[in-house]
Amino acid sequence: MNNQYGNLASQVYNLDKHIGRSFGDVEYYRERLRGSTGPILEPAVGNGRVLIPLLEAGLQVVGFDASEEMLEHCRRECAARSLPAHVTRQTFEEFAYGERFEAVIIPAGSFQLITDHGAAMATLQRVFDHLLPDGRLVVDVDPVGSVMSGSTGIRRWSTQDGDVLTLTAQLVETDFVAQTSVSQLRYDCWRAGQLAASELEFFNLRWWGVEELALALRATGFADVTVCGNYEHGRAPRTDDRSITFEARRPE
Ligand SMILES: C[S@@+](CC[C@H](N)C(=O)[O-])C[C@H]1O[C@@H](n2cnc3c(N)ncnc32)[C@H](O)[C@@H]1O
Repeated sequence: MNNQYGNLASQVYNLDKHIGRSFGDVEYYRERLRGSTGPILEPAVGNGRVLIPLLEAGLQVVGFDASEEMLEHCRRECAARSLPAHVTRQTFEEFAYGERFEAVIIPAGSFQLITDHGAAMATLQRVFDHLLPDGRLVVDVDPVGSVMSGSTGIRRWSTQDGDVLTLTAQLVETDFVAQTSVSQLRYDCWRAGQLAASELEFFNLRWWGVEELALALRATGFADVTVCGNYEHGRAPRTDDRSITFEARRPE
C-alpha cells in the first residue's frame, strides 16, 4: 500500500496533474534538454505530464514507472496525440536498459519516493551507469519543510462520467532520523451520491538536505553539480522555494 498510485490514485493524478499542467518544471526541463539529440530517460514517468511535451518538442524520451495504472494513462494520452509511448513497467530499484542515455530526468520530486537511503544511493548509481559519458542527470526535490509537513486535507474532482473522486490526506508519521514522512491517503469514488469504490495508500517520502543530495551525487561520481530554486536556472535555492533542482554530469 506504499506509493502505489493504484486505480483511483492514478485517476486523481491524471485529473489534477493533467497533460498540459506545469509547475514551471515542464518549461524548465524542455529548456535544459534543448538541442539534445540522443535518448533521454524519465524514471517514474507517471501519466506522461512531462514526457509528452518533451516528445512534442522533438526529443527522444522513454520512461518507466512502477504503476501499471499510471502507465495506462500515459499510453492513452500518447495515443491521443499520435506520439510513441516507449514506456515500460520497471522500478527505481531494478530498472535496466540495453542502451545508455544522454540525459536522465526525475521531475516532480519522484526521487523522494525512495525512502530508504541505501536504495536511493543505489538508484543514483544505476542512473549514473545508464548515462553516456558527459550525460546529465536533472532531478528535483521538494524542500524539507513541505515533506516534513506531509499531505493533509480534503480535495475533490469530477470525472467525465459524472463520478466525484475525493482524496482525504493526513500526515500519520514523521521519522526525523530516517528523514521520512508517511501520509495516509484515502481515495473515494462517489457515484450518484453512493460510495462506489475506495482505495487506501500510505504515501512515503524522504526529504533531502540541499548539501546532502549534492554530496550524494558527488559520491556517486557525478561532476559539475549545480543547484537552483523554483526552476530558475543559475539562481541558488532560497528558503521559501517550492522546488529545488539538481543537475549533474557523468564525467567522460
Ligand atoms: C509524482 S508522480 C510523477 C509523474 C511524472 N514524472 C510527473 O512529473 O508528473 C510519481 C510517479 O512515481 C511512480 N513510482 C512510485 N514508486 C516508484 C518506484 N519505486 N519506481 C518507479 N516508479 C515509482 C508512481 O507510480 C508515479 O507515477
